[in-house]
Amino acid sequence: MSVKSLLQQTRKYFLVFAGFFTLFSNVLAFAQGDISPHIQVLSASCAACHGTNGNSVGGTPVLAGLDRAHFIAQMMAFRTGERSSTVMHRHAKGLTQEEISDLADFFAMQPREAMRMPPASHAKEP
Ligand code: HEC
Repeated sequence: MSVKSLLQQTRKYFLVFAGFFTLFSNVLAFAQGDISPHIQVLSASCAACHGTNGNSVGGTPVLAGLDRAHFIAQMMAFRTGERSSTVMHRHAKGLTQEEISDLADFFAMQPREAMRMPPASHAKEP
């Protein structure tokens, strides 16, 4: 095999590899919706009260699928005290504007699961 054809072969394999790499990293980014690990960890800290991925099963507001602008407006209102809260002012004050904006993106893209839950045992038949 000549040096030239070896180089051509190497180039061909490199292009195929680069193509797969690009495809694979795009699929990964899409699967996670471009959510950074930092925001994933932060959002998990909300789960204790707001449920998994914002699907609250208790009395706390559902965050899944929440309108982005509404989310940010509420967080800012908690921060300033414009909206009174029991706990949320503490959380809102501990987050940067960028984190709030990224969390708004994260929760806006979560599907709402709450409606798919079976009715509670004490619920009346319709
Ligand atoms: C200790 C429980 C608790 C934790 C943890 C918590 N929340 Fe809350 N959240 C609440 C409660 C309760 C309310 C209703 C307002 C209030 O009383 O503070 C609320 C309200 C909200 C609202 C307003 C929703 C609406 O539609 O009015 C947003 C947005 C929100 N929380 C976001 C978050 C985010 C983001 C996190 C994580 C960083 C988080 N919360 C963590 C308990 C919690």
